[in-house]
Amino acid sequence: MSVRRLADEAIQPKGFAFTAENLAWAKKKMAEYPAGRQQSAVIPILWKAQEQEGWVSRAVIETVAELLGMAYIRVLEVATFYTQFLLKPVGSRAHVQVCGTTPCMLRGAEDIRAVCERKISTEPFELNKDGTLSWEEVECLGACVNAPMVMIGNDTYEDLTAESFEALLDKFAAGKGKDVTPGPQVERHFGAPEGGQVVLLDKPTAKRTYTPFPPPAEAPAAPGGKPDAQKPSK
Ligand code: FES
Repeated sequence: MSVRRLADEAIQPKGFAFTAENLAWAKKKMAEYPAGRQQSAVIPILWKAQEQEGWVSRAVIETVAELLGMAYIRVLEVATFYTQFLLKPVGSRAHVQVCGTTPCMLRGAEDIRAVCERKISTEPFELNKDGTLSWEEVECLGACVNAPMVMIGNDTYEDLTAESFEALLDKFAAGKGKDVTPGPQVERHFGAPEGGQVVLLDKPTAKRTYTPFPPPAEAPAAPGGKPDAQKPSK
């Protein structure tokens, strides 16, 4: 279970400003919403700030709130609700979000967590000694069918065992995370059965029988030349 709090005041930066490029992106994003609904862009703009800074600080929250004309507390509520927003500085090569919800827990999430505790730190959000890795436990990330799984950055790594996860983590620690293919780490295509399809193997035989309705007849012309909308057509 993750506890969502802003980072300690001692590590909070004094301020935050979007780069010119990111500010232009944020304004374009705001313009995609109807007039008066610009606050709906809060999630993508917070995400852009996180991409720029690596995490979401108090200054980021205040800057985004001012840009969108929102109360600070409203943006804080969003940032502290979604675990995709990182409220503390994280590992420079990987921050591992381990799903600990029931399907993943039943399929071995505790073994994955144990690898994180052994190889990164016993405490969530505590950096390893090189400052390259960190981890936390989060709630369901929507890949339950491929449990257990973790999310690193924008990608998910699924169907893990303690061994396959440890090998994957070693690659990230060595700066070779891009070499790991996201998705299932076993021989399966997304949620399909391991080893290939086992049901619905026959080719469909049904023939299409649908016949479209004929178009409606034109309404007869009324006196004066215009179609008479009141009279049913024949
Ligand atoms: S329970 Fe882990 S992804 Fe849903």
